[in-house]
Amino acid sequence: MTEWQLKLADRQTNILIEINASQHLFDQLVSLKGHQVLLLTDEHIAPLHLQRMQQQLSQYCQVVPVVLPAGEATKNLDQVKQLYTILMQHQFTRTDAIVALGGGVIGDLGALIASTYMRGMTLVQVPTTIIAQSDSSIGGKTAIDFQGIKNLIGTFYPAQTVIVDPKLLLTLPKRDLAAGMVEIIKCLLISSRQPEDAQLLEQLLLATKSSVRLSLDLLAVLVTRGLQIKSALVSRDFYDYKERRYLNFGHTIGHAVEALAQGDLLHGEAVGIGMIALMRAAVDHHELPLNTLVMTETLFKQLALPTEIPRTISHEAILARTRLDKKADDHGLTLVKINDVGQPFLVPMTHAAFKKWLGW
Ligand SMILES: NC(=O)c1ccc[n+]([C@@H]2O[C@H](COP(=O)([O-])OP(=O)(O)OC[C@H]3O[C@@H](n4cnc5c(N)ncnc54)[C@H](O)[C@@H]3O)[C@@H](O)[C@H]2O)c1
Repeated sequence: MTEWQLKLADRQTNILIEINASQHLFDQLVSLKGHQVLLLTDEHIAPLHLQRMQQQLSQYCQVVPVVLPAGEATKNLDQVKQLYTILMQHQFTRTDAIVALGGGVIGDLGALIASTYMRGMTLVQVPTTIIAQSDSSIGGKTAIDFQGIKNLIGTFYPAQTVIVDPKLLLTLPKRDLAAGMVEIIKCLLISSRQPEDAQLLEQLLLATKSSVRLSLDLLAVLVTRGLQIKSALVSRDFYDYKERRYLNFGHTIGHAVEALAQGDLLHGEAVGIGMIALMRAAVDHHELPLNTLVMTETLFKQLALPTEIPRTISHEAILARTRLDKKADDHGLTLVKINDVGQPFLVPMTHAAFKKWLGW
């Protein structure tokens, strides 16, 4: 088992990673023993993993399972109200817990509830997608979408424990698996631990040549490395003013494309399109070596990931949308660029300069 503690603000997150971890690691969660647990998941995950997890947890605590609709639309204010109501009906208190068994959607929503109900309950994340295992389950960002703007409402509230079981990824549909891989590729591109991360990208390039389905061992290595990279960045900049923003590489355009695609693109797919758009512009400006772009595009194609902005979405619509991004203001935005693998940097830009740099 790989285990480490991440100290963020005044809270500590215990991160446990092991193949099959979700089958036995609950016995380590002393804080859950004798308490009530709201076991939150979605309709796709429930038939695959809920019963086993519920049985595990029931040995130590009283479990209230809740199954929500799958997908981004679930991260909304009405859902928050319904969950507060369920917690009240079962007389949950602040010493009780939420276990979020799911992808980034269940994780973000469950964490928001845990952080606000009675000013904060115990939160355990059991992430089930690549995005959640390598990224969203740690770092403490909780969120729901509001008025069509992604993640507009949220808090900073790190989980007490994150149990990462790469075996849970084996039931993911191929498309979700590939979309999740974008966030890991992003982490490897912005990471400064060279040459290990560049080699991991090469390994991924080789493995995806023959199949999108990666071996469980490689998945475990990639997820662990993604988590290590994110841990390092958030521990240096919990409130997201400096280095943590590197994790937004591709997200300025990605969030806009995701919203404009109205559900046709997964989060990871949209972010991937955003990364490629930025890398193409950087190559045009001689800021990035062509072979880094070619390697990333090849990787995306092997994973059957889109690399082009859908024809129905105009550059103007994307630029208009980036002005609504919560990280932008009237004057402009802070763009994450890379000069090469492991060389990210932040550039404050006006909206006009951003448009010009993209050549749009
Ligand atoms: N808090 C953060 O720091 C952070 C970081 C990155 C992304 N996010 C958020 O994460 C969300 C995207 O996360 P996601 O891609 O995990 O989306 P998701 O939670 O919607 O999961 C993707 C799909 O996979 C299904 N699924 C999940 N686990 C499964 C499994 N093991 N087997 C079969 N099906 C499974 C889900 O039901 C869903 O249909 C976005 O809302 C994004 O804003 C948050």
